[in-house]
Amino acid sequence: MPAPTDKGHLIDIDTSRPIWHRFFTVAPLVLIGTTEPDGSLDLAPKHMVTPMGWQNYFGFVCSPTHSTCKNIARTGVFTVSYPKPSQVLCSSLAASPRQAGHKPVLECFTTFPAQQIEGEFIDEAYLYFECRHFKTIDGFGSNCLITGEIIAAYADVDFIRHDDIDDQETIHDSPLFAYLAPGRFAAIERSNAFPFPAHMKK
Ligand SMILES: Cc1cc2nc3c(=O)[nH]c(=O)nc-3n(C[C@H](O)[C@H](O)[C@H](O)COP(=O)(O)O)c2cc1C
Repeated sequence: MPAPTDKGHLIDIDTSRPIWHRFFTVAPLVLIGTTEPDGSLDLAPKHMVTPMGWQNYFGFVCSPTHSTCKNIARTGVFTVSYPKPSQVLCSSLAASPRQAGHKPVLECFTTFPAQQIEGEFIDEAYLYFECRHFKTIDGFGSNCLITGEIIAAYADVDFIRHDDIDDQETIHDSPLFAYLAPGRFAAIERSNAFPFPAHMKK
């Protein structure tokens, strides 16, 4: 179906193949931490990430062939670390190919243990979740949606919202990482209050 003819600025995007490399979208970036069968740590960056509703559920898109997916199916838990913009390089390197089944680059990470589950977080991130696997939904082409219940959460105090500090100041002083899929990133330090309609209900 061609683009509407009265909208001259619109071009058709071929949906017979994946469309996501044709334009930019804004996404978070996290590192999902899981435990390998030999007890070692696995970390993998993911940008297809979202809260699953207003309660404490978290979801991300994965592939059943990834160790992350297999580890979660086996252990029933995973960690989430939200890196700061200064951690872009190490976050990316966690996607390095395996050598003899392992990612040697993971030895360069400083980590600390989760409290309620078996798992590790990367040092110096700004937000952390400990998740119990909730459900995995297969069948999005070659991908699956993995969801978890957030059973513990921690944050760098500089990134927490405070009643006596303007949100704009909080974001300015502690910039957020945005992944601009595909293949770019930004540090967000300037923001505006969202113009919600009066009496809006969630
Ligand atoms: C910036 C970035 C974002 C990524 N986002 C995703 C994602 O959302 N979902 C996914 O399945 N893989 C994503 N990947 C690829 C995985 O992180 C990569 O395949 C990883 O090595 C899988 O590791 P594992 O086999 O240990 O799970 C991303 C990679 C990078 C560099």
